[in-house]
Amino acid sequence: MKTLVFASNNAHKLEEIRSILGGRFDVKSLKDIGCEVEIPETGATFRENALQKAQYVKEHFGLDCFADDSGLEVEALGGEPGVYSARYAAKNGVAVHDNKDDVNMDVLLGKLVGEENRKARFCTCVALVYEGETHYFDGTVEGRIITEKRGKGGFGYDPIFVPDGYEQTFAELGNEVKNGISHRARAVAKLAKFLKGDFQ
Ligand code: IMP
Repeated sequence: MKTLVFASNNAHKLEEIRSILGGRFDVKSLKDIGCEVEIPETGATFRENALQKAQYVKEHFGLDCFADDSGLEVEALGGEPGVYSARYAAKNGVAVHDNKDDVNMDVLLGKLVGEENRKARFCTCVALVYEGETHYFDGTVEGRIITEKRGKGGFGYDPIFVPDGYEQTFAELGNEVKNGISHRARAVAKLAKFLKGDFQ
């Protein structure tokens, strides 16, 4: 079975990917291949960051690899927080000690006070470096940012994001519904289709 590295140590993401590709690929995490460093993510786009991670593994370990990068884009803020989604509060000079997700959401909600355009989307880009070629798979889910946090599930900005066609936030909808429509699920489905189609 061919080895393919997923440049992540996120247990949930790995389990999801292994259940999709596990029959055909030996999917290894960064830890599995002995990569202990924090791979730099200094790109200006999700695509650049995803490629940076996948290329790092190829260059340092000689293994084919895919990596993902995700975030939230708010239309009224010109696409912010974007690649800064995970560190949006810090980017805005707000100190974060714990509850990082909560503080990030507070900063975002603060910027949107009085704003009528609440349109937003979550985006994922997966970059695959395979046999000397690079492929990209994008997934998005459109929705809106509400004015207060609702729900306990999920992570990140889930409590303030309502996907189009729903009234509940991602944090209220639960993992099953979210995983059926999420940006990440859509990008990963494209990756899986490509890999299965190519290597059946
Ligand atoms: P990552 O690239 O998947 O690690 O995501 C980067 C950041 O984007 C996270 O730390 C979250 O702040 C945000 N984000 C990405 N995906 C989601 C999601 O599905 N729900 C909520 N926030 C997300």
